[in-house]
Amino acid sequence: MHRLADLCQDKRAPARHSNGALGYLRTFAANLRDFSTEEAERPVIEVRGLTKRYGDKVAVDDLSFSVKPGVVTGFLGPNGSGKSTTMRVIMGLDRPNTGTATINGRSYHDLDWPLREVGALLEARAIHPGRSARAHLWMLAQTNQIARSRVDEVLDIVGLSEVAGQPAGKFSLGMGQRLGIAASLLGDPGVLLYDEPVNGLDAEGIRWVRNLLTGLARQGRTLFVSSHLMSEMAQMADDVVVIGRGRLITEAPMDGLLESSQQSFVRVRSPKIDALVPILEARGARTSRAPDGSVNVSGMSEATVGDLAFEAGVALHELAPNNASLEEVFMELTEESVEYHGAGGESR
Ligand SMILES: Nc1ncnc2c1ncn2[C@@H]1O[C@H](COP(=O)(O)OP(=O)(O)OP(=O)(O)O)[C@@H](O)[C@H]1O
Ligand SMILES: [Mg+2]
Repeated sequence: MHRLADLCQDKRAPARHSNGALGYLRTFAANLRDFSTEEAERPVIEVRGLTKRYGDKVAVDDLSFSVKPGVVTGFLGPNGSGKSTTMRVIMGLDRPNTGTATINGRSYHDLDWPLREVGALLEARAIHPGRSARAHLWMLAQTNQIARSRVDEVLDIVGLSEVAGQPAGKFSLGMGQRLGIAASLLGDPGVLLYDEPVNGLDAEGIRWVRNLLTGLARQGRTLFVSSHLMSEMAQMADDVVVIGRGRLITEAPMDGLLESSQQSFVRVRSPKIDALVPILEARGARTSRAPDGSVNVSGMSEATVGDLAFEAGVALHELAPNNASLEEVFMELTEESVEYHGAGGESR
């Protein structure tokens, strides 16, 4: 696997290889081999039958899902649906009532060097306000026998080198997020959990986080990320786990989720549309005719529509997918599970 510094400091990468571009390419090829298809399919984070109660309140309810490496998996759910609780249980900060949460087959407490296997930025952060960013990271590094040089490396990755001597208590929200991300990267771990990592960041900061996290996933790491910003998630996540009231609603690849939405359709135009419609309907598609003579087909991908048209000898003049936005799909999926409605919404 790549080291983090190689990813985040592209400009420095060639200097690490004494035999220049060839060495760099060899390392790159070796890294690609490391991350085989077999590994890509094996789940790294596994949550099985997880239930967590706080008094009478069931925060997480018999929840099961898995997260695979090499992609960003988005963790979505309305407020209070149990995302942070689930992440805290995975990180060993909360004990479940029943069920298990494992990382590479082991619970967090059984990991030999936790910071080297899994890094996290969770909602509640405990940083001594008077301690400098560098001192905070150095304290964490020492507990896991991580070299001091790594502290400067991660400060550099998150762009905090120049303010590393200042007390963390004086940091802006965005700087605090960057410091949290730096801490998560200290042990160069293969598994990373981020709970609302772009909260409080400006547009540049959000873009920076997106590029960092997707880059980390492309190296073969496992990224499990919650966010309320649907447009952001749509750009960042390859897979999605959606929960509501502590229960699993769906886990799916992002593309499949958007395509399967009731609001997604494929617009088809053909001189022989009357011959095509019954063929598509016979294969389970729903169709509706638009005033301009085109037909909107839902419940079927544009590839299948195209293939069926080809088999039937029907020429197509237009085949245009119109995917629902992630926000629309999220609202559709979680309609029944929203606990806290704003004014005008129905109260449950
Ligand atoms: N320590 C706690 N004590 C009591 N109840 C808790 C505690 N932590 C969470 N809860 C409750 O469990 C439920 C799930 O909370 P959680 O914070 O996991 O949701 P979430 O999906 O992260 O929400 P948000 O999107 O607002 O961050 C909520 O009803 C919350 O009030
Ligand atoms: Mg939360």
